[in-house]
Amino acid sequence: MKFFLDSANLQEIAEINNYGLIDGITTNPTLIAKAGGDFKAIIAQICEMVAGPVSAEVASTEYNQMIKEGEVLSKIAKNVCIKLPLTIDGLKACRYFADRHIQTNVTLCFSAAQALLAAKAGATFVSPFVGRLDDIGQDGLELISEIVQIFANYSNITTQVLVASVRNPIHVTATAKMGAHVATLPGKIFKQMFQHPLTDNGLATFVADWASTGQKII
Ligand code: E4P
Repeated sequence: MKFFLDSANLQEIAEINNYGLIDGITTNPTLIAKAGGDFKAIIAQICEMVAGPVSAEVASTEYNQMIKEGEVLSKIAKNVCIKLPLTIDGLKACRYFADRHIQTNVTLCFSAAQALLAAKAGATFVSPFVGRLDDIGQDGLELISEIVQIFANYSNITTQVLVASVRNPIHVTATAKMGAHVATLPGKIFKQMFQHPLTDNGLATFVADWASTGQKII
């Protein structure tokens, strides 16, 4: 499973990218607003830091304007991935960019039917939102399972399932078991994945026992 970081915070991206485990970045208008600063400059800086796909979302909801915005964004760097909403206009724009070999991420996917349409439109990634479905009492994980199963039935579908709106590490491991291609994680959740109390206790014991030997490796 690939791990993307769901963030537009340059400091956080620099810190976590330094771990060497991040395959790409997703941003959205909310994350950009939270980070502050000029959108295109932020995307350019992220693209310099991270080699993998960097999702930058169009602001317009109208096809012609989406094309214009997407073209501007795609020129920022080779690894920009144009993020488009799962609407008729968004999927028309997805087909336009797919035909020009520009990466796309179709966002705000909440049903398997929508995911199938994104695949049909040639999306590089489709982003089903697990946490937001859970928030309204629906089963976000079940949606990922459905989409992964459906895509596996068709060898011509190349669209990758990008698990979004991740709220905890179980969302990551459960969707990895299903075979989802990518999970995009807020920095906090990514850091939670490292944690286990037995790791901390075990390490404390090993450090103390090593010290008691009085030896040094170097
Ligand atoms: C990523 O592409 C999505 O925009 C993001 O994961 C949404 O997460 P949220 O539901 O926590 O806002």
